[in-house]
Amino acid sequence: MILSIESSCDDSSIAVTEIATKKILFHKKISQEIDHAKYGGVVPELAARLHAEALPKILEQTEAYFPKLKAVAVTNAPGLAVTLVEGVTMAKALAIALDLPLIGVNHLHGHIYSLFLEKEALFPMTILLVSGGHTQVIDAHGYKDFSLIAQTMDDSFGESFDKVAKMLGLGYPGGPIVEAYAKKGDENRFDFTVPLGNSPKIAFSYSGLKNQVRLQIEALGDLSEQDRCDICASFQRVATAHLLQKLKKIFKNGAIWEFAIVGGASANLYLREKIEKLCHDFGAALHLAPLEYCSDNAAMIGRCAVDAYARRDFTPFDARGSAPRRAI
Ligand code: KG4
Ligand code: ZN
Repeated sequence: MILSIESSCDDSSIAVTEIATKKILFHKKISQEIDHAKYGGVVPELAARLHAEALPKILEQTEAYFPKLKAVAVTNAPGLAVTLVEGVTMAKALAIALDLPLIGVNHLHGHIYSLFLEKEALFPMTILLVSGGHTQVIDAHGYKDFSLIAQTMDDSFGESFDKVAKMLGLGYPGGPIVEAYAKKGDENRFDFTVPLGNSPKIAFSYSGLKNQVRLQIEALGDLSEQDRCDICASFQRVATAHLLQKLKKIFKNGAIWEFAIVGGASANLYLREKIEKLCHDFGAALHLAPLEYCSDNAAMIGRCAVDAYARRDFTPFDARGSAPRRAI
């Protein structure tokens, strides 16, 4: 079995995965969303302190598995430096105490492996990763064999939902809230411009759209509940149309038979529906992670670690967690 730890942002999570069957034997996550909501976003130092409280509480519940562990895995990049270090320190301590190898897992690779929970990995596959920190299209050829096709030039897809929610005073995390408001709104009321609509570039950009929303909010002044719903719906339509427009170009550029969406924002049902249609039009199969494993969790880190273990791809104990937002 492999015990895995995730603490790259605001979710403290630990999982135990059986190596032979890839089955998730234990998975627990304590989210800090409520604690950060009043600040409208994640406060790194607060997040680190909450991980220091939550991780040992979860770890206690896994003690029965300790004698059967073969390795300890942990997200070591990318993420918030002060929160990554909480998980990495715990993983190193545990690995030393139990005399086990350490497996450092890239958080983005973890999101990709959320597609392969309790089953074999499937490659090659083209993957849209939409989270709070990243918006990328990746060609996945095999274990750790990934090439980047496109990425955002500024804000990420999930982050833009968080910022729109903050501007509307709706709380954090913005993704699910904006999606819920959008369901009750008129998506055609506000005619926001699709980012990079006239550009041949295969890249994403969300900061201009966020600005358009800000200007609209200022122009309306006092907002009614219906105004908020209409802004969310119009924003979601355009944010998604932008992804779709660029994905269509990627689909046209080369034959894609297996396509997937991963990351926290892949839980958005409006986006899922649009991408389902795109895949259908281009004859590609669409792969999705189970809804509860779209956002950050240790089970996806554990699943990636199972493939690392098979290759004896261990991480030296002196390796450091790294903070910057890196491409895959
Ligand atoms: O993957 P994740 O849990 O953390 C990162 O690795 O960043 O993704 C969190 C992001 C947040 O920005 C959140 O607002 C967004 O995913 N998100 C959504 C939805 N659910 C979560 N964005 C749009 N629609 C949703 N339903
Ligand atoms: Zn994530």
